[in-house]
Amino acid sequence: MATQLVEFPRTALNKLGGLDGDALTHWQASGCLVIEEFMTVSECQVLKHAADRLVDEFEPNEAATIFSTRDARHAKSEYFETSGDKIRCFLEEDAVDDAGRLIVPKSQAINKIGHALHDLDPVFERFSYQPLLATLTKQLGLSDPLLLQSMLIFKQPSIGGEVTWHQDGTFLFTEPQSVIGFWFALEDATLENGCLWILPGQHDRGLRSRFMRQDGSLQMVDYPNARDFDESKAVPLEVPAGTLVVLHGSLPHYSAPNLSQKSRYAYTLHAISASAAYPESNWLQRGSHLPLRPWI
Ligand code: FE2
Repeated sequence: MATQLVEFPRTALNKLGGLDGDALTHWQASGCLVIEEFMTVSECQVLKHAADRLVDEFEPNEAATIFSTRDARHAKSEYFETSGDKIRCFLEEDAVDDAGRLIVPKSQAINKIGHALHDLDPVFERFSYQPLLATLTKQLGLSDPLLLQSMLIFKQPSIGGEVTWHQDGTFLFTEPQSVIGFWFALEDATLENGCLWILPGQHDRGLRSRFMRQDGSLQMVDYPNARDFDESKAVPLEVPAGTLVVLHGSLPHYSAPNLSQKSRYAYTLHAISASAAYPESNWLQRGSHLPLRPWI
């Protein structure tokens, strides 16, 4: 990847907590907004402590048992596939041995927690459904948003892995495309600890692939006529804690492994339009006990 260290423009909210016309033009052109100081330091701390509490409560043997006593690949897939309406911890690949036993301390072993923190944990619920975010989402074109997914991504020192180039719409597909990603930096994100990288403007190329259930299993299906990402145009988003990065569902993004000694906690939310079609072939499905709920 070329290191084209261009500073991506920052966007400020207006006095009403909304976006001005220039910001919306920038959003449409680039597929991304970087809004610094969206969260206070204490809000970051509250979410970090809530995340650490969930890690404390996590019983690694639960996942380890699942993975070691059954066909590991199938069990891992099932653990993931049924997590859309739960709070589950997912381990770093390098954190477990072949039998699924932890080989690093639990506090360093978790890659992420997903995928319904926003509906099942009161701390994350309060933050996720805040009016300011709802206003912003509406301005970005989602007049009837539903919060579909939430994740706490840890990117722990030395072990936090790479997230390869992808578009969120690949995984959270709607027709028409409606997903918007909200990425909240709970800690400073830098080149050293694995900040986001984006390909500004390449959201207009459409989706390159879809991750979907086909022939009984989840598969990555490439669109034959899709244009490739031009990774030579990659721009890093080094941002301070409290920053909100908004990502169009078709915007390619990436993050490097964390080779530093500092963690890089981020909280993410994904909203979709209630009026868009949400296929049953998407990986993320929720049971009737926990339907998606109107937000605004
Ligand atoms: Fe993503």
